[in-house]
Amino acid sequence: MKKYFAGILLAIAVSASGQQLPDMKLQWFNDAKLGIFIHWGIYAVNGIDESWSFHNHKISHEDYMKQLNGFTALNYDPAKWAGLIKESGARYAVITSKHHDGVALWDTKMNKLSVPASTPAKRDVLSPFIGELRKAGLKTGLYYSLIDWTHPDYPGFLRDSVKYNLAGNPVKWQNFLTFMNGQLSELQQLINPDLWWFDGDWEHSASEWQAAEIRHKLLNYNPKTIINGRLAGFGDYDTPEQNFPVTRPDSPAWELCMTMNDSWGYQGRDTNYKTPYEVISIFADVIGYGGNLLLDIGPKADGTIPAEQVNLLKEMGKWTSKHQEAIFGTIAGLPQGHFYGPSTLSPDSLNLYLFISGGSCGQVMVKGLKNKVLKAVVLGTETELHPKVVGKISWSPVPGLLFLDLPEGAGDEYMTVVRLSFNEPVSLYRGKGGLQ
Ligand code: GLC
Repeated sequence: MKKYFAGILLAIAVSASGQQLPDMKLQWFNDAKLGIFIHWGIYAVNGIDESWSFHNHKISHEDYMKQLNGFTALNYDPAKWAGLIKESGARYAVITSKHHDGVALWDTKMNKLSVPASTPAKRDVLSPFIGELRKAGLKTGLYYSLIDWTHPDYPGFLRDSVKYNLAGNPVKWQNFLTFMNGQLSELQQLINPDLWWFDGDWEHSASEWQAAEIRHKLLNYNPKTIINGRLAGFGDYDTPEQNFPVTRPDSPAWELCMTMNDSWGYQGRDTNYKTPYEVISIFADVIGYGGNLLLDIGPKADGTIPAEQVNLLKEMGKWTSKHQEAIFGTIAGLPQGHFYGPSTLSPDSLNLYLFISGGSCGQVMVKGLKNKVLKAVVLGTETELHPKVVGKISWSPVPGLLFLDLPEGAGDEYMTVVRLSFNEPVSLYRGKGGLQ
C-alpha cells in the first residue's frame, strides 16, 4: 500500500459489502462519482499537445510560446461552463491552473508568464470560473503542474535535454521551489480549492519536491482540502489515467481521468470522440468498482467548448439525472462472478443496481445472491420485473440462480439500470457449491 494512504487507513471502516470506506474528509469526493476535468491553455491556439508538443520536439519552444498571442478568451463564459458541468451531473470540476508549459491562468505575481500578463485575454480567467462553480454548488479542484519546463530555474526542458543538473545546482533548485511555493500560496489565498490535483511528480523524488512540506502547507491552510495521488506519495487518492484498470483497484479512494477524444486540450483535428454509450459504459464500470470518473473537456482558445463535447456533457446529464440513485452516494457493487456487468450498492446495501447495456432485452442472471428480492424495477420507467429463482434446494446453503426478464423497450437508450431491493443488506454466497 502506498505511503499516501498511511494517514487515512487509520480511519477506514468496512461496509456491509466488505468495501473499505475512507475517512470523512473524502466523503464528498467518494459520493460525487463524476467530475469534469478542464484542460485550457495556450496549446488550444494551434490545437497541439499541451506542453508535450515542444517537449517532444513537435514544435520549437519559441513557436509554442507564440501561441500566447492567440489566447483571446473572447467568448469565455464561465457561468455557461459551470451550467453545462452541472447539467452533466458532475459534482466537481478540476481546471488546469498551470500546465507543464508554465503558463498560469491567474494573475500570478511570481513571474510574467500568465494569461493576464502575456496574452490578449489580459485577465485572470481562473477565479471567475471557480466563482461560478461555487454558485452552482459544485466542488472546486485545481490542477497544478509541479513540472515547469519553461521556468529558467527548473532543470527539465526537452525530452532529450535539461537546462541544468540538479545535483550540482542546489541554489537554482531552491529558487525554483521558492517560486513554486509562492504560486501555491497565491492559489491558496485566491481560490482555496476543495481539491488539489498535482501532476508531473515523476520528474523528481518526494524529498526533492519537498512533497511532505507541500502537503503540510496545504492542509495547514485548509484541513479539509483533498490532494490527489500525484504528489510523490503524499496524496489522498489514486489517479489511474485513460485506460481503465481491468481489475478492481484496492485503494480506498480513486479517480479515473479520461479524455473524450484522444487529446486533453482542444485539438480540432482530433475527431475520435467516444460516443455517449462508450462514456456511460466506462462510467458504469468505474462506479461499479467504487471509483470516480474525471471526464476531460478542452475548450478552444476563445473559450468556447467544442460542440461534440457539449453534446457528450448533455447526454451524460440526461442519463445521470434519470439514474441518480444508482450513481451518486453509492458504493462498489458485486464482486466479479455474480453478474455479467457493473453494479453498485446503496451504502446500507439494501438496494443493488445492475447496469445492463442499452437496448438489451431478454434474461439477466445474478448468481450467489442469498437475499430474497422484495422488488425489482427498471429505473426511470418504474417497470416492475418479476424475478424467478431456480435451483434452490431447501436444505442446501447454495443459493438459487436469479433470472430477470427484461422486456423489449423497457430499457434505456444507453444503459439500463435495474434496482433490486431487499429487507436485509446484500449477502453473497462465495463458496464452491459444497454444503459448507
Ligand atoms: C499526464 C500529462 C498531462 C495531462 C495529465 C492528465 O500526466 O502529463 O499532459 O494533463 O496526464 O491526467
